[in-house]
Amino acid sequence: MNIIELKSETYSVHIAAGASTLLQSYIQSRPATSRSFILVDSNTGKHCLPRLVAAVPALSNVTVITLQAGEANKHLASVEGVIGVLLSQGADRHSLLVNLGGGLITDLGGLSASLFMRGIDFVNLPTSLLGMVDAAVGGKTGVNFSGNKNSIGLFSNPSKVIVDLNYLESLPEREFRSGVSEVIKHQLISGEIGKTNWQAVPWSQFDWATLIAQSIAFKQNVVASDFQDHHLRKILNFGHTVGHALETYSLTTGLSPLLHGEAVALGMQLELVLSHHLTELDEKLLKDYLRLIQGVFPELSFNMFDHSWMNHLQTDKKNQDREIRCVLLEGLGKVRVDVPIAEADIHKALQYLVVNSIN
Ligand code: GLY
Repeated sequence: MNIIELKSETYSVHIAAGASTLLQSYIQSRPATSRSFILVDSNTGKHCLPRLVAAVPALSNVTVITLQAGEANKHLASVEGVIGVLLSQGADRHSLLVNLGGGLITDLGGLSASLFMRGIDFVNLPTSLLGMVDAAVGGKTGVNFSGNKNSIGLFSNPSKVIVDLNYLESLPEREFRSGVSEVIKHQLISGEIGKTNWQAVPWSQFDWATLIAQSIAFKQNVVASDFQDHHLRKILNFGHTVGHALETYSLTTGLSPLLHGEAVALGMQLELVLSHHLTELDEKLLKDYLRLIQGVFPELSFNMFDHSWMNHLQTDKKNQDREIRCVLLEGLGKVRVDVPIAEADIHKALQYLVVNSIN
């Protein structure tokens, strides 16, 4: 197996088709008294767990904790549920929690493991593209609270991240594209955007191991210089001020909920227009980037929502003094953080998108 290993100061990320088998030696390297637990959701329990247990015999008799899939279950009561099972099944401070799933599972599992007995080891095995390139790496854990995305959480690193590309085979196409949105985000803010021809080449021909490794390596470098999100790490929030507002709106209004990457794809479009209006991003680049994102997500547009989605901009974690803050792109790989945005700027940007939408 050709494994790509990305080391950071605190933990390593291993990337390969079949990389799950590495968990066997990791578990065997731990003290014999250390017990393991697996956290899954109702989808990964069905589609990914059998494959994991077949590859890692050390997991064959461990307790499996199953959460109902879906962002609506990303709340404190689910954390209590996980901790309740850990306690009732005899977990102690030396236990290991294996998080097998997408962002919901790695965020919520990471938080549960970090709170239980003031912190036990956890390993992330992301099963979605979005989890692989974003949620499972970087040490952010959390849950939603009172309608606010990830507003309760901790910075806490896993002991290891294992990216087994075989899990992508069972990922629905819509979920896969949701992950592509975060890959595009990393390419836009790193200046690598022209290097992948998202439109002209069938995605099956891409070297996904390398693409995913590049995306993770970029994120790891950013996180290494600003783990707690005080300055540079904020660039990773490009598209997310608007994206989180749309995601929360779609979850709370009875619409069919947007996936995280879909909300970010729309958020990046609006924040690109804001970048053109409020910074030096030139219109040629703006139109190229809009065409790219709209080409990958042809079914999405702001016409799908009424303007009340904007109410959710007021509660974003990135705001300061009740002022909406965005990360904007000034040019290829040039990012400005903490830019104050007025509601009138948003309306003007929405108007631009109405006129310049290819969808
Ligand atoms: N997803 C953004 C971050 O990890 O900082």
